[in-house]
Amino acid sequence: MDLSGRVVIVTGSGRGLGRAYAEALGEAGASVVVNDVEQGVVDEAVRSVQTAGGQAVGVVAAVGPAETADSLVSAAVDSFGRLDVMVTNAGILRDRVLWKMTDDEFDSVVDVHLRGTFTCGRAAAVQMREQGDGGRIVLISSPAGQRGNFGQTNYAAAKAGIVAMARTWALELAKSGIDVNAVVPIAATEMTKTIPAFGPAIEAAESSGEPLPAWMRKDEGLGTVEDVASLIVFLASEASTGITGQAIGIGGDKLSLWRHPQEKTASLHDGGWSADDIAVSWSTGVGAHPETFGIPAPKVPQT
Ligand SMILES: NC(=O)c1ccc[n+]([C@@H]2O[C@H](COP(=O)([O-])OP(=O)(O)OC[C@H]3O[C@@H](n4cnc5c(N)ncnc54)[C@H](O)[C@@H]3O)[C@@H](O)[C@H]2O)c1
Repeated sequence: MDLSGRVVIVTGSGRGLGRAYAEALGEAGASVVVNDVEQGVVDEAVRSVQTAGGQAVGVVAAVGPAETADSLVSAAVDSFGRLDVMVTNAGILRDRVLWKMTDDEFDSVVDVHLRGTFTCGRAAAVQMREQGDGGRIVLISSPAGQRGNFGQTNYAAAKAGIVAMARTWALELAKSGIDVNAVVPIAATEMTKTIPAFGPAIEAAESSGEPLPAWMRKDEGLGTVEDVASLIVFLASEASTGITGQAIGIGGDKLSLWRHPQEKTASLHDGGWSADDIAVSWSTGVGAHPETFGIPAPKVPQT
């Protein structure tokens, strides 16, 4: 895929998935604004995008405040003349069960993920609308935002909100030719190594150089960061024009489309529903087949 001439910002691209996105975009010929919070990792990522074949500049700043979003867009315009694609990837975890989670743990996750996505998406939309020839905004969500996840009140809420932003912006930016999608990735990174069912297999694969086992790549849809980067390159390319408002899953050998929430079943009652009416009809009516919730536990094969 040829992304020559396209200018892309990837937030949080000093490490992990973001770094793989930046490298894959550079390899396809894009010019990339790399961003992270430490000078050293930004410099290293800029060099690796350049080695991969793209142009790159770095911005060391914490995503969240509007000023960071503005300086990212300015870096794209000043260095490469325009902005075609914004990828909002920067993220942190502060996991804790609800009754122990502090205000600070909640706020810091919401600030980076939700506010950071909002401020970067807004700055990108302003620039792209001014340019007048369309663009792409790729937001990074998570299975936790789609399903809920134990210990992740802050993260699940922010990631669910991010998909809601993608659907809202797809509506608002359609006339401007700006496609907006959410990506729901899974990959072996520092983040996923902390999941007990995955950690040992990821570490074994890293030390042996062998691929992750088939049950992880296929059944759990968990592979390398490069597996996910292919979707980002596709969404940054001309080939994806017109795809908008979608939540697209990728990981390992699996590419998927997440269903959007909608009423599954409905029942009418003349004059409205009293609490007693609901109690009488719930288990045979709309509540007969309740929805599941939470990310299903990984099915580790027994050896
Ligand atoms: N790894 C997975 O399987 C997975 C699954 C679902 C979603 N995600 C999402 O993908 C994104 C990347 O995850 P990852 O696994 O590569 O994590 P990671 O921790 O390896 O990388 C995240 C990067 O973001 C940077 N960062 C953190 N706060 C920042 C801020 N305020 N401004 C700029 N940069 C900041 C970090 O320094 C780090 O380099 C995150 O949004 C994460 O929630 C990852």
